[in-house]
Amino acid sequence: MRISGKALLAGIMGWPVSHSRSPRLHGYWLRHHSIDGAYLPLSVRPERFTSALEALADMGFRGVNITIPHKEAALAACHRVDALAERIGAVNMITMTGGEIAGSNTDGFGFIESLRHAVPGWRAASGPAAVIGAGGASRAVVAALLDDGSSEIRLVNRTLSRAQSLAADLGGPIEAVPWPALSEALAGAAVLVNTTSLGMQGHAPLEVDLGVLPSTALVTDLVYAPLETELLAAARARGNPAVGGLGMLLHQARPAFEAWFGVDPEVTEDLRAAVLTD
Ligand code: ATR
Repeated sequence: MRISGKALLAGIMGWPVSHSRSPRLHGYWLRHHSIDGAYLPLSVRPERFTSALEALADMGFRGVNITIPHKEAALAACHRVDALAERIGAVNMITMTGGEIAGSNTDGFGFIESLRHAVPGWRAASGPAAVIGAGGASRAVVAALLDDGSSEIRLVNRTLSRAQSLAADLGGPIEAVPWPALSEALAGAAVLVNTTSLGMQGHAPLEVDLGVLPSTALVTDLVYAPLETELLAAARARGNPAVGGLGMLLHQARPAFEAWFGVDPEVTEDLRAAVLTD
């Protein structure tokens, strides 16, 4: 990569940030489009987050992605936050223009685009959704499902009160479902989404009986390490279409790349391979 004095700069702020795949992802697109720019991992302690963000704006960065644990803090640190990020309660993407720091959230866009690329024509309006988990990732997914026309969301969470708060915050046809009713909540569902860390490498598996889930239901897992979780394997084994979590990571990056570097990039098999290379 060649970097001139006019290079466009962006990066990802996290703590830690070394596990992030985003530098590989944006680095691939920068090379692919021969863009004079760089995307850097930026390791920032929580107590220094706001001052570090302002320093990046002072240094002429085009913007940054925000990851754990800064997504909520970024909401307060931005000068302006769009309505979607406000509703979700988290910022994952920031643009810096003329010193103004503006926050938005592209996770829900990434979620829907990933499903549409895997299953062309897919729409949340096609039937009830069962969503497992009520954390930060779930908020983005549930908001995206509602915005795509979902008319019924069954939100299953270990801590029921967290699902109830999410339902109250976002409003709309969301029913908080207690954890023991997980398997029954799949009856008649058109889509099942795991937004928890269950099934991720080093975490406990997600134990769910898919028995009453229609075989046409789309099953998707936000976990992408491993690429094929036990949930996805079980779904495929009984004939359900299944989509892994890597696509959401790749697609959520597209609006950010376009905002900072001026090109709407493509998600390709080559990109997937580059992002997965260690
Ligand atoms: P993220 O931003 O990735 O969503 P999070 O906000 O910490 O992370 O949320 C993690 C989600 O995984 C929550 O829904 C959490 O359930 P609780 O709200 O009850 O904590 C869920 N989760 C994590 N470990 C779990 C486990 N062992 N069993 C069931 N749910 C679990």
